[in-house]
Amino acid sequence: LEKQYYIGLMSGTSLDGIDAVVADFSSTAPTLCSHSHTPFPSPLKKQLADLCQAGFDGVHRMGEADVALGRFFAETVNALLKKSKFSYDDITAIGSHGQTIRHYPKGAHPYTCQIGDPNIIAAETHITTIADFRRRDMAHGGQGAPLVPAFHQAVFHSSDKNRAIVNIGGMANVSILPKEKNKPVIGFDTGPGNTLLDAWHQQHHDAAFDKNGEWASTGTVDSTLLNTLLQDPYFKQLPPKSTGREYFNLNWLRTFLKNSSLPPEDIQATLTALTAESILSCGLETHAIEEIYLCGGGVYNHTLMNRLQQKSPCSVFSTKTLGIPPDWIEALAFAWLAKQTFSHQTGNLREVTGARNTAVLGGIYFA
Ligand SMILES: Nc1ncnc2c1ncn2[C@@H]1O[C@H](COP(=O)(O)OP(=O)(O)O)[C@@H](O)[C@H]1O
Ligand SMILES: [Mg+2]
Repeated sequence: LEKQYYIGLMSGTSLDGIDAVVADFSSTAPTLCSHSHTPFPSPLKKQLADLCQAGFDGVHRMGEADVALGRFFAETVNALLKKSKFSYDDITAIGSHGQTIRHYPKGAHPYTCQIGDPNIIAAETHITTIADFRRRDMAHGGQGAPLVPAFHQAVFHSSDKNRAIVNIGGMANVSILPKEKNKPVIGFDTGPGNTLLDAWHQQHHDAAFDKNGEWASTGTVDSTLLNTLLQDPYFKQLPPKSTGREYFNLNWLRTFLKNSSLPPEDIQATLTALTAESILSCGLETHAIEEIYLCGGGVYNHTLMNRLQQKSPCSVFSTKTLGIPPDWIEALAFAWLAKQTFSHQTGNLREVTGARNTAVLGGIYFA
């Protein structure tokens, strides 16, 4: 069977860096051939973080960041090729998610914005690049997110067990995969994943995140605060729904902390519980879920994992159990989406995003 190599590039809401994979899709189960995680240099990280909120001359700053990030994506690909001894002409196409700087799926003019110029990626890698996956779904009335459930269904569906795949990145999203193939897949953002944990940790420590959830483990979950946070309308909203750091951020948290005298570690513990509880209320009982598989950086937060395991009505595993380490699922999903587009196949699920139609997603920038 002829190999079909694609590259996936993912940089999520955590702004921790770029995950890149080379994968072979010549059989149903994709083979992960090579991978890399490249942290953002701090000036680029700051440039991107600043764009996630309102500020002076955003159009100009976005234009510059689009180019800077496009170059960084291209360098990442070239370094990955070198390391893994692939040549650019082995690769059919790159699927690049881009960096989300705004996601407003509701309102009169819903829009989503991912940057990292694919023209530059194609020019500097000599590989056909596919990007801008979300806006075609939005053009059909969808939320543009989440897009990974179609990939989860294609790769992780089981005809023996009802499964849920949960990605805990900056935001957390779930895919519910019923064992009966005629039942619809359900997928949505459950709310914040690591984003509030990272932000609150950064307020109190000189590090980007709460390593292994150690700080949270020294605090006590405050059930009153937890229940108040869980009253946020987003958690009650029925799917399709998607969200981002423009909604769940420190300002959001502060509105609930006004007169709070809780020690900061208790707040970290409570935020950790918020991520766990909002994931577990995704309808596990309703859909008779038998197995949960977790991926994304949140898997390395032991306090979060312990809480999920204790409170879950069913078994909780890492996607490693299914043969793909949790770190590479999202990048692999964008390699898969590139393959879908390149072979004129659709990439969105109507029942997930709420789009009127399925569509071949993204724009193709030929090498
Ligand atoms: N050892 C760890 N302990 C605790 N949290 C971790 C650890 N490693 C990664 N993380 C969390 O995972 C996040 C990155 O996850 P990732 O899946 O890359 O998210 P995104 O897709 O939003 O970039 C980090 O910001 C951090 O919160
Ligand atoms: Mg990341």
